[in-house]
Amino acid sequence: MPTLEQEFWGVAPAGRVTRYTLTNRAGNSVRILNYGGIVQSIRVDGAEMVLGCDALAGYLDTNPSYGAIVGRYANRIANARFSLNGTTYTLVANENGNQLHGGPEGFNKKLWTGEPFTAESAVGVRLHYRSPNGEMGYPGKLDVTVTYSWNDANELRIDYTATTDKDTVVNLTNHTYFNIGTADTILDQLLQLHADRYTPVDERQIPTGELRPVAGTPFDFRTAKPVGRDIAADHPQVRAANGFDHNFVISAYDGSLRECAVVTDPATGRRLRCLTTEPGVQLFTTNFPTGKYHMRGDTPTPTHGGICLETQHFPDAPNQENFVTPLLKVGETFNSTTVYRFE
Ligand code: BGC
Repeated sequence: MPTLEQEFWGVAPAGRVTRYTLTNRAGNSVRILNYGGIVQSIRVDGAEMVLGCDALAGYLDTNPSYGAIVGRYANRIANARFSLNGTTYTLVANENGNQLHGGPEGFNKKLWTGEPFTAESAVGVRLHYRSPNGEMGYPGKLDVTVTYSWNDANELRIDYTATTDKDTVVNLTNHTYFNIGTADTILDQLLQLHADRYTPVDERQIPTGELRPVAGTPFDFRTAKPVGRDIAADHPQVRAANGFDHNFVISAYDGSLRECAVVTDPATGRRLRCLTTEPGVQLFTTNFPTGKYHMRGDTPTPTHGGICLETQHFPDAPNQENFVTPLLKVGETFNSTTVYRFE
């Protein structure tokens, strides 16, 4: 049987933090915190697959959302503002007048209630958070459940659901920084993205609204290529971000669970597949050094130390008519699933 352990892992401003260790039949484990819903560790065949912190202090300090659930709205909303049903809502801004990742007190900073479970071939934890009406500026009391399950096939499945008591917008993701290899950077790892187009951004990293073909640009990952090959290309979008920090439009999106990305480490043969029901995926290549913390000891995470595959609705969709709507109406349930599979 897969096993489940839980332990006290320190005290956050909102209360005591529990760490859940989910171990599958193969002996591989995933560690989840009820603080921020953080994926703190994924160990496969004895090797660490993610970046993170060894103690809670690292997560309480400034960090770029390591492993966390991001909400209510993952990525940016321009001018921290959107209109819905004739009302303009002003959000709490936290980056150049925009809102990034749900604001300064987003879901990544919340204490969630955890309900662990074991099943025949999987083990997991169901996290719940109730976001009050008006939190970070959003309308509606939002009930969010994020279910992590880790099965014997080394698949971490994340199911998100949300309901509201007032029409609102929702965009939930997980912000894990993967490094499936043994080198300090992900530059030599091969990335394939099933995306023919991406959403270019302006100087404040807000999508221009265009869905631009990747063909003939550094954004063309349709055939696997090393992440580092075009990461320093002389292309305005790449230069401005110091790498990749862009939303890709998943090809043939229809809301069903389909593969969007494959990362391969040629040195070890390890592979990570990402499947999602979402229309987009933010490729973020850790374009600046992220501070003091690194999962594999006390060395700081260097630039390009990890790769994020943040499955999502498109950035700024509340203000962009051509993007898949992030609207959640009263009486409806938001559903989203993403799977990270280690091979
Ligand atoms: C954003 C980046 C940001 C990073 C860390 C990504 O989703 O697109 O611009 O630096 O998250 O918060």
